[in-house]
Amino acid sequence: MTVPSLTLAELRLLAVAGGAAPSLHNSQPWRFRPAPDHRSLMVFADRARAVPLADPDGRALHISVGAAVFNLRTAARHLGRAATVALCPEPTTPDLLAVLDLSEPSSADEPDLYPAIEHRHSSRRPFANRDVPEAVLGELIEAATAEGATLSVLEEAEVRRVLALTTEAEQRISADIARQAETRGWLRLEEPASDGIPAAALGPLDHDARVPVRSFTGHPPRPAAHTERFEALPQVAVISTHGDHPMDWLRAGQAMERVWLLATLYGVRASVLHQAVEWADTRWRLRDPAEGPGHVQMVMRLGYGAPGAPTPRRAVEDVLDLSGSTDALSVGNRTGGPAQTTDSAVLQEDA
Ligand SMILES: Cc1cc2nc3c(=O)[nH]c(=O)nc-3n(C[C@H](O)[C@H](O)[C@H](O)COP(=O)(O)O)c2cc1C
Repeated sequence: MTVPSLTLAELRLLAVAGGAAPSLHNSQPWRFRPAPDHRSLMVFADRARAVPLADPDGRALHISVGAAVFNLRTAARHLGRAATVALCPEPTTPDLLAVLDLSEPSSADEPDLYPAIEHRHSSRRPFANRDVPEAVLGELIEAATAEGATLSVLEEAEVRRVLALTTEAEQRISADIARQAETRGWLRLEEPASDGIPAAALGPLDHDARVPVRSFTGHPPRPAAHTERFEALPQVAVISTHGDHPMDWLRAGQAMERVWLLATLYGVRASVLHQAVEWADTRWRLRDPAEGPGHVQMVMRLGYGAPGAPTPRRAVEDVLDLSGSTDALSVGNRTGGPAQTTDSAVLQEDA
């Protein structure tokens, strides 16, 4: 059985959900376009929104787009549509990173992660000295495995090793004027914006310098950042993949977002410590030799604490390309679709 073609309301809901994904410096490097038959959605990289010094190979860009793809899949299920995803389907069109076939109805046999999309935010504040229960960690590990990636929750010695490497990488970034300028270029401290990182989303620095949160405002931070005591032993998890190609990065991004949304449903907060992944040598040293070969893609800090502040998102019109779709959409909307979704039911865009 196939479901009717995508309506404008469904496309908008999908674009808002996809656009709510996390991305390096909130760069939102994606564009969505319905296929001519309006039963598939194409996902493109927006290379104009790349972060070239921190991410010269586009690895983080692919991870960000992978996270958007997972949100799109989740939103499609919410609309009663199964998503069959083809990654990098056309080698001659390298910017086309995914096509989601949304023509079949979904079967509701998995937890509904859709409600978590609007509540997931990076939480850069200190967490409580309270462990995430083993059972929840087990589900997060399964979530990553289902996406073809590995989530390793680190033991104490490994946590300390990974935090030390992150500190080393952060110090290297702090000594690199061009890198610092690039990061600051994504800060939106005063002006209202549709991308980048607002002041409210920044956290304090760790008073004991154990948790090397990224200093988005430079070294020394300007305006000066206050310090707070972070959790004594952070819970750190690493996402890795067997391969290290664009498809692996897209899988890692889907795994990260699946883990993050599930964690959000459980009230577990998360933030990313990506600095050591941004330098080839520290990235290589992040690998756990005991785990066998694998490429580290993400380092996440998990715990319980205050929710992160919302960050802005680009307008739907800027990420959803409807050029060439006007006729199909007016026909689709006249004949009606499966979802009676209106714009008011679409996830609210972050303030
Ligand atoms: C590939 C990637 C790398 C990131 N690196 C960091 C990082 O090093 N430090 C940090 O605080 N946040 C990092 N983030 C989180 C983004 O800054 C965050 O997702 C973005 O600002 C949007 O905010 P939100 O997650 O609250 O929606 C990263 C996210 C991605 C996808």
